[in-house]
Amino acid sequence: MSLLPIRVLGDPILRKETVPVREVTPELRQLALDMFETMHAAKGIGLAAPQVGRSERMTVIEIEGHQLVLLNPEVIERAGKVTWEEGCLSIPEVYAKVDRAKTVTVRAMDLDGKEFEVAGDELLAVCLQHEIDHLDGKLFLDRLSLLKRRAAMKTWDEEKDQYPNFIRIVVPGQESGDDPHGDDERI
Ligand code: NI
Repeated sequence: MSLLPIRVLGDPILRKETVPVREVTPELRQLALDMFETMHAAKGIGLAAPQVGRSERMTVIEIEGHQLVLLNPEVIERAGKVTWEEGCLSIPEVYAKVDRAKTVTVRAMDLDGKEFEVAGDELLAVCLQHEIDHLDGKLFLDRLSLLKRRAAMKTWDEEKDQYPNFIRIVVPGQESGDDPHGDDERI
């Protein structure tokens, strides 16, 4: 396995629509493993392919030891409303409260090429919606009011110079040491 560089806000790939996966190849399976490893090192719970510079419509999620690989995921049901403090591995140190559906059902394909459905509530629902947004070229910042987005961008302006060429190199064991936010907010 290998750690992948994470693309941060400003890299155009984060704004591109992804391409549906037609076939599960050994290379794609390897990518999933590398994405899990990268996500663990960055202490996050979700990571989408564009965040590691790829265009596949694919995301990985791990919550409380439960791993999910979702190919071509789409939300087929949503209900309720929840407000969650979200961060993103591609916008380090920036957090804001985002309104989302409280429960969602998502249909996707797994690494065996089989279709499945997953229903999520609260954190899992938020994570699924956040990752599917990534696959559509959207970021949580887009869902904030103008005022909140301005405040978030002000924080980012102080952070972004640490990431030349919009690349974040994750060092295992050195991430988020003094970050007061919980792992369940980096998605
Ligand atoms: Ni994210």
